[in-house]
Amino acid sequence: MGTAILGTGAYLPERVMTNQDLEKIIDTSDEWIQTRTGIRTRCIGGKGEETYLLAARAAVSALEMAGVSAVDIDLIVVATISSHMLMPSCACFVQKEIGASKAFAYDINAACSGFVYALDLADKYIQADPGKKILVIGAEALSSRTNWEDRNTCIIFGDGAGAVVLGAVEGDRGVIGARLFSDGNLWSLLHMHTAPSCNPELLQSASPGVHIVMEGREVFKYAVKAMEEAILALLEQEQVALDAVSLVVPHQANVRILNKLVERLGIGAEKVFINVQKYGNTSAASIPIALDEANRASRIQAGDIVLLCSFGGGFTWGAALIRW
Ligand code: COA
Repeated sequence: MGTAILGTGAYLPERVMTNQDLEKIIDTSDEWIQTRTGIRTRCIGGKGEETYLLAARAAVSALEMAGVSAVDIDLIVVATISSHMLMPSCACFVQKEIGASKAFAYDINAACSGFVYALDLADKYIQADPGKKILVIGAEALSSRTNWEDRNTCIIFGDGAGAVVLGAVEGDRGVIGARLFSDGNLWSLLHMHTAPSCNPELLQSASPGVHIVMEGREVFKYAVKAMEEAILALLEQEQVALDAVSLVVPHQANVRILNKLVERLGIGAEKVFINVQKYGNTSAASIPIALDEANRASRIQAGDIVLLCSFGGGFTWGAALIRW
């Protein structure tokens, strides 16, 4: 018995922001952004595209593909760092929005690794109780958590959501395994504060605002090394050869990180799915958006082994293997 992906879905906001649009608000250029990141455009949410609504639309699309009704979902897990409210969770809003009346729902925060963490969690629920049907969603409106005056960060991130429906199936289809890692010692290299505390004793000395802060160069170095290590540890754990992997669907951080990873692992670039040029870095949403795009473009066939890998704030990183 395996935990299979029964359907995938994604939703991207309608408004597309180009590098030329960014040239008008900060001191940057299309050439600089493309050379350093590979990003050309990103989607930016507008009215009616709050994080939970992006998530709900991605979920409905995944449910349709799976042929599963929302009322048959037992659990909704949303990986996000940019919910429109701190409480209730984004997952509770999704539950309400799609009418998943019997599901319990909660969010997890593992930054850009959130989807891989949530997938592993859902796999373990289903292994313990094969009757369960679970929606795992990655959803972000990072445009609401970006300092639009900071050219180091605002060029990188975008909004969107991706979702998968998981359920038990007979045979060897499904999640093969995962390896997850964290290192809180490195938190300051990539972080985001909350709003200032209401308790004066707990006030930060100078609240920098609720937006992403990043040491780009350091993050770059760690990201490549960490994803490579997670992938090699997972392949070793599951006794799967890298050659047996049909498609790598990585967290879409930026093209240079992904090219470096490809070079270090020695895999063919054609085996790596990249769409960061269109959507930028959508944090927890990037892997399920890419997975849905690859799936709908028939880049993944039944029986293929798909490798996911991620890196994000925390630091958090990990990898997962799925037999499709
Ligand atoms: N446009 C033009 N110039 C920019 C710029 C922008 N948007 N952002 C920074 N610069 C400038 C810097 O001010 C610096 O100028 P200086 O040399 O005059 O001081 C110069 O470009 C080089 O800056 P640096 O930060 O060293 O650039 P870099 O080559 O490291 O590229 C990143 C910056 C952010 C693209 C790169 O570090 C990166 O990709 N990091 C990983 C980020 C990431 O993926 N984070 C999410 C992980 S989940």
